[in-house]
Amino acid sequence: MGNNMSAIVSSTHGIRPSKRTEQIRYAIRDVMLIAEQARAAGKKLLSLNIGDPLLYDFPTPPHIIAAAHRAMLDGRNGYAPSAGVPEALEAIRAEAERDGIRNVQDVFTNSGVSEGIELAIAALTDPGENILLPSPGYPLYDAALLSVGAEGVPYRLDESNGWQPDLDDMARQINPKTRAIVVINPNNPTGAVYSVATLRGILELAARHGLVIFADEIYSKMVLDGQPGDQPFVPMASLTSDLPIITFNGLSKGYLVPGFRIGWGIVSGPKQEVAHYCEAIQKLMRARLCASHPMQFAIKPALEGDQSHIHVVKEKLRRRRDLTVSVLNSFPEISCVAPQAAFYAFPRLKIKKSDTEFVRDLILETGVIVVPGSGFGPANAEAYPAAYHAAADHFRVVFLPQDDVLEKALRLIGDFAGQG
Ligand SMILES: Cc1ncc(COP(=O)(O)O)c(C=O)c1O
Repeated sequence: MGNNMSAIVSSTHGIRPSKRTEQIRYAIRDVMLIAEQARAAGKKLLSLNIGDPLLYDFPTPPHIIAAAHRAMLDGRNGYAPSAGVPEALEAIRAEAERDGIRNVQDVFTNSGVSEGIELAIAALTDPGENILLPSPGYPLYDAALLSVGAEGVPYRLDESNGWQPDLDDMARQINPKTRAIVVINPNNPTGAVYSVATLRGILELAARHGLVIFADEIYSKMVLDGQPGDQPFVPMASLTSDLPIITFNGLSKGYLVPGFRIGWGIVSGPKQEVAHYCEAIQKLMRARLCASHPMQFAIKPALEGDQSHIHVVKEKLRRRRDLTVSVLNSFPEISCVAPQAAFYAFPRLKIKKSDTEFVRDLILETGVIVVPGSGFGPANAEAYPAAYHAAADHFRVVFLPQDDVLEKALRLIGDFAGQG
């Protein structure tokens, strides 16, 4: 090995990773390290940390599995076109049309919404630029920004107002380096659904400052409240055709196949404004070849076939949401705003311990796994201490488990919080 080589691979420290990865965390899975310790010590684990319905009693609708299976038997096992197979792209466009999204300029499929978010961020931001992120929020956005040398700037979600975005705070966070606003609606980790007035307020801000909107609507099929006959969900892009918006959605949650890794992006807005940006996204997509080819054949049957599973899923989730809110609020050390969608709640802790200490001790003592609230705060806690501390007074629970298991876990959490 020459001298150059030994400088890169130091015998004492191993391979030096990039500085850009230093702040990247993903608390949802990071807690598993503590869980493994608890398991080794003989604890039975109760997982309320991962938003995967397949871990519980939410089976995939058989026609969606059959479509992917058929595609494999039909030999759709080579590379697909980079943006996606035409049948899938047409089905996505048709659903966007049904949802009232106009001025669609581009549609593409990805390996989950996760990959779409990464590509859309990489195609938009240069080092030193930033994107506004909800706080608390889903940690992938910060990670994707850090990995391209850009920054996530948190805006406040207001717990005292049902976790709606605080528009004044959002306006204050915009600076000349800001390129986009991420709107996660329905939200992870709070389960909030945003009012149309709030969405319009965000659109006005974006218009005034020339910003792109990333509308992450992956939980759009899981809105739990609303009267029969109400429009169940209002996609942000259906409120305007004059602004650049990328709507992200996919099969993972609404169609119960997170392991298929199928998501998509829909770019809407004025053609001349989005054309160069779309081409940049397409270039990155060509470089990574394609999303899973056979799995894309599940998209049309999912969006256009039998939807009856959604009713069943929502009924279970409504019951488990109500159970979660009532059990947690019965403990004086916890208060929980009722989620309106998805399968997450983000209760506040009124105890002396920090959220990370609480979660570590909870896992080791009881085997119940939840995620510390700070895992949904800004990655750069030093730059944004207020946003970090606001998230850190909380924890996230997933209310997917069967009623009896869920109730047992929630009571263990409450009793444990009562011990300080
Ligand atoms: C808000 C949000 N966006 C994106 C994702 C990732 O979805 P996918 O499985 O399509 O990559 C998740 C997954 O939990 C999520 O909660």
